Amino acid sequence: MAIEIIATGRAVPPRRLTNDDLAKRIDTNDEWIRSHTGIRARHIADDSTACSDLALEAAKDTLSRAIETGAVGEKTPEELALTVDLILLASSTQDYYGHPATACLVQDKLGAPNAAAMDITVACSGFIYGLETAAGLLEINAKRRRALVIGSDILSRITDWTDRASCVLFGDGAGAVLLEKTAAPSEGEGRRGLVRSILAADGSGAGHLMLRRGGSREPFKAGEVVDIPPHIDMDGQAVYYFAVKAVTDTIKNLLKEDGIAIDDVDIIIPHQANARIVQAAAKRAGIPEEKFYLNIDEYANTSSASIPIALDELARDGKLKRGNLIMTVGFGAGLTYGGNLIVW
Ligand code: UT7
Repeated sequence: MAIEIIATGRAVPPRRLTNDDLAKRIDTNDEWIRSHTGIRARHIADDSTACSDLALEAAKDTLSRAIETGAVGEKTPEELALTVDLILLASSTQDYYGHPATACLVQDKLGAPNAAAMDITVACSGFIYGLETAAGLLEINAKRRRALVIGSDILSRITDWTDRASCVLFGDGAGAVLLEKTAAPSEGEGRRGLVRSILAADGSGAGHLMLRRGGSREPFKAGEVVDIPPHIDMDGQAVYYFAVKAVTDTIKNLLKEDGIAIDDVDIIIPHQANARIVQAAAKRAGIPEEKFYLNIDEYANTSSASIPIALDELARDGKLKRGNLIMTVGFGAGLTYGGNLIVW
């Protein structure tokens, strides 16, 4: 069997916050942000929008796209939603603390009553972990055929807007893919779909990127006055060095395990955290920067959504051809990292 991406979709809030807009609120400037991160703007959800709202929009976009392109036999998104067997939603900014899983809220609003639904919490590596998890769950049970994997994050809600070293980095968005289990390629046809993944973690670095308050370790107490809402607490330099190594190692290991050379890969879609991380990893691995797709200038770091948003942009712009070999690579809180190899 093969596990193929048959459609992609995305949802990005319309409100755009530029570096100059930020510079009016905190001590920063466009030149610093661009030269240190490659970011020019980010999109910010309005107060009434939660993670499930963006996720639902991205999921609906994906189902509509599957119908438009003739990737499925169903005639309407509603009919198609009934055939979805699994919804995996990667996020760090779920609608509710702990439970219910945001994937369940999406399952209900999408009209996908036949889908099992769960969240994946590995921060920015969530989509990479999600693809491999969904593939495994489709493969293990003959009854499951289709899965939606969604990355949705509203990082603006867990950002400390007074901390210039971190608040300039983040944005909001969602991206999704529809996976389908198809017959194994016949001899001579070549590979299709998700062919290999690396999922990894280094929990010793957990403290470098953390939402400290609100969990069972440091719960809020009755009567406590909180000066600042729960927010991302980050050691930027530690994450930077970890990220460059994680990206370089993942690329090398994916190539080695698959027995291929970098020239066999058509495009690398990295997690969009900082363009400088990608440039440093490219240099260290001896890979031309042009091999990496970057859209961080427009969206900043949208965490679990960054890779599926990029994938959807590439797919819709006609930049992915059937048979192309795509590599994803990412890292995030945990610390987690990994990558996927996908034949389009
Ligand atoms: O998904 C994972 C999420 N996190 C990441 O990917 C973060 C990874 N880390 C990074 O991307 C980088 O470490 C940062 C972008 C966060 C910081 O870049 P840096 O080149 O490591 O800067 P720095 O922290 O060493 O700061 C250099 C200077 C400092 O000033 P002094 O002490 O040299 O006078 C900072 O105060 O830049 C200053 N600075 C700023 N200046 C203007 C820090 N943030 C800003 C800012 N605007 N927004």
